[in-house]
Amino acid sequence: MRLIRPSVEWEDEHRSYVEEWGTSRMVPSSFDLSVNETYDAYLQALAIREAGNEKWLPSTNYFLVDDNDKIVAMVDIRHKLNDFLRNVGGHIGYSTRPSERKKGYATFILAGALKKCKELDINQVLVTCDEDNIGSAKVIINNGGMEDESFTDTDGTVKRRFWIEN
Ligand SMILES: CC(C)(COP(=O)(O)OP(=O)(O)OC[C@H]1O[C@@H](n2cnc3c(N)ncnc32)[C@H](O)[C@@H]1OP(=O)(O)O)[C@@H](O)C(=O)NCCC(=O)NCCS
Repeated sequence: MRLIRPSVEWEDEHRSYVEEWGTSRMVPSSFDLSVNETYDAYLQALAIREAGNEKWLPSTNYFLVDDNDKIVAMVDIRHKLNDFLRNVGGHIGYSTRPSERKKGYATFILAGALKKCKELDINQVLVTCDEDNIGSAKVIINNGGMEDESFTDTDGTVKRRFWIEN
C-alpha cells in the first residue's frame, strides 16, 4: 500500500474510481473529474488549487494504491484552516472506493495523511464528519480523534469535529 500523487499515469485508475462512485458528489471534491474536459486540464486545475491560488488554501492530494496498482482510497490534506474549514471541512478529507469499504483503508489513509501533516508541521489536526456518518467517525476515533463542539450549518447539517494531536 502506498500514497501516490495524482499524475497522468493514474488517469485510467482515477476514472475507474469515479465511475464506480456514481453520480453523488465526489468526496473529496478535489478528485472530481466532471469539471474539466481532459485529464491534463484536471491536473492543471489541481496544481492551481494545491498551490493555494485563487480561492484555495494550500493543499496536497494522494491516492492510496494497493499492491495491484488499484486506487482504493483518496485523501485531500488542507495545510491551513479558514472559517469554512475550521467549522465544516477540517484539515483532511478522504473517501474509500465503494467496492473496497470496511477493509480498513480509510483508517489507513487517515494515518498516512497524519504523517504527511507532521512533515508539514501541522501538529493539531482537525477532522470532521456528518453526524450520521458512523463509519467516518470511527475512522477518526481509530486515529486518536478527540471530539470538540459540533457545528450546525445554515441548512441544518450537523458536523462532528475532532482534533488529533499529531
Ligand atoms: C466513511 C468511509 C470513508 C469509511 O471508509 P472505510 O474504508 O470503509 O473505513 P474503514 O474500513 O477504515 O472502517 C473504519 C471503521 O468504521 C466501520 N465502518 C465503516 N463504514 C461503516 C458504516 N457504513 N457503518 C458503520 N460502520 C462503518 C468499520 O467497520 C470500522 O470499524 P472498526 O474500527 O470498529 O473496525 C467510506 O464509507 C466512504 O468513502 N464514504 C463516503 C465518503 C465519506 O463519507 N468520506 C468521509 C467524509 S468525513
